[in-house]
Amino acid sequence: MIQNLVIGNWKMNGSFAANEQLLDALLPALAGLETVGIALCPPFPYLSQADWRLKDSGIALGAQNLNEHEAGAHTGEVSAAMLKDLGCRYVLVGHSERRSLYGETDADTAAKFSAARAAGVVPVLCVGETLAERERDETTAVVYRQLDAIRSRLGARAFAGSVVAYEPVWAIGTGLSATPEQAQVVHAAIRQYLCECDTITGPDIALLYGGSVKADNAAALLAQPDINGALVGGAALDADAFAAICRAANG
Ligand code: 13P
Repeated sequence: MIQNLVIGNWKMNGSFAANEQLLDALLPALAGLETVGIALCPPFPYLSQADWRLKDSGIALGAQNLNEHEAGAHTGEVSAAMLKDLGCRYVLVGHSERRSLYGETDADTAAKFSAARAAGVVPVLCVGETLAERERDETTAVVYRQLDAIRSRLGARAFAGSVVAYEPVWAIGTGLSATPEQAQVVHAAIRQYLCECDTITGPDIALLYGGSVKADNAAALLAQPDINGALVGGAALDADAFAAICRAANG
């Protein structure tokens, strides 16, 4: 049985003061949720602030991005080892905003995934199709191509111990979530891919759905057999909404 996991991706939002306010409201609301795993991914400058506040809360810390190189002349970049040093358990890899706004390719994503693994940070691999790709009936092909990039770099065992998040690009920040049935079809295809890679570990990899997850649609999404949690954007900035999603995922 896979433990449900809810990850809040704050994207490029927050300030010291706003984060304090959010965490002041969030931490008591999340206390006592024993069965769901929870993680927060603030922007880089606030990782230490969040790490400090999350101490002893049982809530894990994650980052939104990393550089694939270990160290050296990469001005403005942050390595996996630095994230580990800052207390990050997770790092998002291949988020659609990285792919579409910053030109990150499948190969770049695979290199980042590999760097995270090497440093002992759990990569949360984001995959998903655009609306045009869905309309052309290419959803599975696109998601499998994104998974193939990881497998061809790191082999069939690459995914063991990682997390995969299905985030249809057309559902991100639009208020237009995939229906539970639409999401389940893709999650089942991802599960099949992972099990074909490795029959032992494939069934245990947490598959998160992301894309306009809100307090009022979380329970129906999480009731699907291959949805093991949520990657939450906008609603992660609202303590009541995020806490409600975490409660829905808590057994
Ligand atoms: P929204 O929940 O705002 O649609 O964002 C989803 C997302 O991109 C999480 O990584």
